[in-house]
Amino acid sequence: MTVVLGIETSCDETGVGIVADGVLLGDALATSMDEHARFGGVVPEIAARAHLHAITPMVEHALGQAGIGFADIGAVAATAGPGLATAVQVGLAAGKAYALSLGIPLYGVHHLAGHAAVDTLEHGPLPARCVALIVSGGHTSLLLIGDLARDPVVHLGDTVDDAAGEAFDKVARLLGLPYPGGPVIDRVARDGDPTAIAFPRPMTGPQDAPYRFSFSGLKTAVARWVEHHRDQPLPVADVAASFQEAVADTLTRKALAACRDHQADTLLLVGGVAANSRVRALAEQRCSAAGIHLRVPSPRLCTDNGAMIAAVGDLLVRADISPDRLDLGSDPSAVL
Ligand code: KG4
Ligand code: ZN
Repeated sequence: MTVVLGIETSCDETGVGIVADGVLLGDALATSMDEHARFGGVVPEIAARAHLHAITPMVEHALGQAGIGFADIGAVAATAGPGLATAVQVGLAAGKAYALSLGIPLYGVHHLAGHAAVDTLEHGPLPARCVALIVSGGHTSLLLIGDLARDPVVHLGDTVDDAAGEAFDKVARLLGLPYPGGPVIDRVARDGDPTAIAFPRPMTGPQDAPYRFSFSGLKTAVARWVEHHRDQPLPVADVAASFQEAVADTLTRKALAACRDHQADTLLLVGGVAANSRVRALAEQRCSAAGIHLRVPSPRLCTDNGAMIAAVGDLLVRADISPDRLDLGSDPSAVL
């Protein structure tokens, strides 16, 4: 059995996870979120510097949680992309340093593979074929996936403009809510009426590409609505709930269509936006009505973390995949 140390630094979270044989032994997370709040979004240089400070304490914390030492680690996995270039480089360089100093193999991991693989830590191996909807701050993709270590991923469709998480963050800003907007909108929407405002369901017409997404127009529709009602007190909860409903409806409609069209009986819902309570509830409801098995990780494993990268490393080790060389470069815009 090989113990894998996973390192994730693609955005503002410094995540470290320890996984062996599909079991999560320890994980630790630090975030520089508060340092970015006043800029309304993540500042790459600040995130990179914060990773440099946090990475060693997080590794030690995760090791402590797992009750093991450096000598017990058998392989290192680090995010090699996609993500903020300088942020990715800090984690990858740390991974290389651990690999070199401990004399163990290094695996460069694709961040989105991590989002999908993390579910195996809670729900066991993935089926031979399933549809994955990856919804994060940087990506919105419908994929056909199988064995993550061996099989190529088939892209069914991506967003043509903003990612779903990006739309949450931008709409939150419009409503005067803090960054990151997703969790705040989720909370505020609980007091709102999701049917109060009929926001559009983008790219859901018969002429539209069935698995592509577009969220920039929805954000503009919210901005326009706010502008038109400027002379009244802003019903923040109703706007948030109605916007969230439009996103949840669009995402789940397309994901279920992809399952149906590709004869997949499992939908894997992952990424930061999969932590959204309404997206989860609607996916559950629609999957259950369609006889589709829904797999979605606990909310804390949906957003960026180190366990997801360790989970991919664990799959690669167990599939006997050759490790990467220590001169492995990072790829900020890596495609899965
Ligand atoms: O996967 P993730 O942690 O990082 C990326 O890989 O991008 O996703 C972060 C995104 C942010 O846009 C954040 O606002 C959104 O996920 N998010 C949520 C929720 N929690 C995080 N969006 C909606 N509802 C949530 N509860
Ligand atoms: Zn992510």
